[in-house]
Amino acid sequence: MEQVLRIFFTLSLIILPTMAQTQTAPYQNPDLPVDERVNDLLGRMKIQEKIGQMTQLDITTINKTGHQSNVELDPGKAKELIGEHHIGSFLNGEAVPAGQWFQFMDRLTRLAVNESRLGIPIIYGIDHIHGASYLGGATIFPQSINLGATFNEKHSYNAGAVTALESADLGHQWNFAPVLDLGVNPVWPRIWETYGEDPHLASVMGRSYVNGLQSAHKAGSKKMAATAKHFIGYSDPKSGWDRSPAHIPDQVLHEFHKPPFKAAIDAGIKTVMLNSGEVNGVPVHASHRLVTGLLREEMGFDGVILTDWADIKKLVNFHYTAEDYKEATYQAVMAGVDMSMTPLTLEFNRAMTELVEEGWLSEERIDASVRRILTLKFELGLFEDPYPTDDRLDKIGSTENRQKALDAARESIVLLRNSGDVLPLEAPGKIIVTGPTADSKRNLSGGWTIAWQGGEEEQYPEDMMTILDALRAEFPNGKIVHATGIPGDKELNDADLVVYAGGEEPYTEFIGNISDLTLPQQQLKEIAAIARGNTPLALVLVQGRPRLITDVAIDAEAIIMAGLPGFEGAEAIANVISGTVNPSGKLPISYPMDPNHYIPYNHKSSDVYFFDGGDPNEIIQGDDDPSLFPFGHGLSYTTFDYSNLTVSSRSITTEESLRAEVTITNTGDRQGMEGALWFITDHVGRITRPVEELQHFEKVSLEPGESVRLEFKIDPTDHLAYPDENGKLNLEPGRFTIKIGDLTKEFRLKAVK
Ligand code: BGC
Repeated sequence: MEQVLRIFFTLSLIILPTMAQTQTAPYQNPDLPVDERVNDLLGRMKIQEKIGQMTQLDITTINKTGHQSNVELDPGKAKELIGEHHIGSFLNGEAVPAGQWFQFMDRLTRLAVNESRLGIPIIYGIDHIHGASYLGGATIFPQSINLGATFNEKHSYNAGAVTALESADLGHQWNFAPVLDLGVNPVWPRIWETYGEDPHLASVMGRSYVNGLQSAHKAGSKKMAATAKHFIGYSDPKSGWDRSPAHIPDQVLHEFHKPPFKAAIDAGIKTVMLNSGEVNGVPVHASHRLVTGLLREEMGFDGVILTDWADIKKLVNFHYTAEDYKEATYQAVMAGVDMSMTPLTLEFNRAMTELVEEGWLSEERIDASVRRILTLKFELGLFEDPYPTDDRLDKIGSTENRQKALDAARESIVLLRNSGDVLPLEAPGKIIVTGPTADSKRNLSGGWTIAWQGGEEEQYPEDMMTILDALRAEFPNGKIVHATGIPGDKELNDADLVVYAGGEEPYTEFIGNISDLTLPQQQLKEIAAIARGNTPLALVLVQGRPRLITDVAIDAEAIIMAGLPGFEGAEAIANVISGTVNPSGKLPISYPMDPNHYIPYNHKSSDVYFFDGGDPNEIIQGDDDPSLFPFGHGLSYTTFDYSNLTVSSRSITTEESLRAEVTITNTGDRQGMEGALWFITDHVGRITRPVEELQHFEKVSLEPGESVRLEFKIDPTDHLAYPDENGKLNLEPGRFTIKIGDLTKEFRLKAVK
């Protein structure tokens, strides 16, 4: 026995000190619930450390050259910012190879854990908005406006999932996407970052993106958090210019701008970025009513609320609601901001320190924000696994992922016009390709790709095709001639088709502000000159917004809205021209006809009065469509017939639901995909009702002669109610019409007795 005791005693001398050394604090124990860990950690933190967690700084504050494109850590700078100022988050960068990002993130994350007293990991934010667009070699999807055009949520899910799979492992665990602003103002230079003008479409696409991105770790990568941005009303500035004031009635905010954000919150989105602009005279960053009242309390968002770029400062030098940075900080934090994308200075930390010392801000207020930030870090697994891994770098830009981007691009191409069935062009002898985008890679991808305003042409992957390359690959036996400017008559005469690839160069934010939505005059001139010949013309519009083409539209036999289809986009365009892919994209925005007349398809019925040229007193109120091509328009090489629309009842109570069914038949002679769009019109409302609203959609693939019966279950609260100016839902008995294709059916909603 004595022998046994002696052995035990000797062993315990060896083991016990080891146990004591490795004993973890509760916040380090992964077996405890997150809120217990957060509370424990908060209790150990000093006020300066808490303020540091609320700060996000730009990569230029910690890299070697101080330039955006430099992804090389300056350990001295990083050490100071993390060790002395306790900075908890960094952002930004540009596309460099994965190995370089890995090195940067590895050094930064190790330094953060070592330099912060409590070993708190940093969280890195980045604008990988259509695939990991700041990562060399990554799969690049079409931009969101194209995803909207697919009317197929699978593609939005894939875009989110592939982004996370290709970049979260590198330590990019916070993505500043999706943009859930409503694309209602075609002049606004970020409309292409949206899913289009319809709240339901944006809600479905945004929700799928969030689900894809935030659940990709189940396929083996690290976790990634999505960001719903830019809350709220950012997309409809009165002037159309970025960050200029918006005037949006509360009722409109509730009915149209809120639903996409609400859908993302319901899908569990972890962070929200605020609108840099002002709505109804109040900068959103200083609006307690919008940030805390609407977003937190009414919409139930409990994740992290982040400012946009330098927006606290803008309260001082742009909106002029604050005298100085300290007052601005107070306004923003009291409005409900958790984290400041400061992002170039320590002004926010200084202001916060003074506000606490002077008693303006309580530690409880700061704790509330830091609690949310730490929760995010715990939930992303950063405490257990703060460093990047390079185990899966070979998966970046994999064939499988690129195929997903190609599938999305193919379904996103919208054939707007096809006079005389000039397309598809199956076996051409000669095609002339011209226009500013004929041989451009950067134009296909748009902003936030490689760099903020798009990269330089030579920075795009070698194996990425331009439209010219793709047509050559598509028609190996054809003669594909690249012309610059207007091709000569002789050249034109023996060609089967001229492809004019025009549109826009990449831009985003204020750099893309324009005063005229018309397609640049030079392009209009070239198109008109080419159209004077006898060769059929296909106009391919590679653009972020619907540049006006009314004057030349009739001259082009075919018009293709290619939008910003990404790295696989040229192939998708060539496939549509040849007919190897039957186009199935539909416009997610109304394509305007005239300057100064931009109205979304679902405009309230009183918005449009038109004068038919007779007695000016007899101005008619109507729903005359002011667009050149309406929302939902898109041609196919086959034809779809809608028939036998039925409703399960001609009248329902507010507590019943209604089943609508329709048959769609492919009546042409080739396979095709059809986005089936269900609209509802509420005939009479106490608040003027939209002319019609998209309430449900689904995409189907049909072989020639094949039919499918589709169903839409109408729930009165989800599909027939609408909010008042306080966000309170009205469900009013009355007449409704359901529409799909060219079919309609009316039904009544009765009050419950
Ligand atoms: C943009 C955001 C972006 C942020 C970080 C801002 O200027 O408005 O959309 O996420 O910069 O790059």
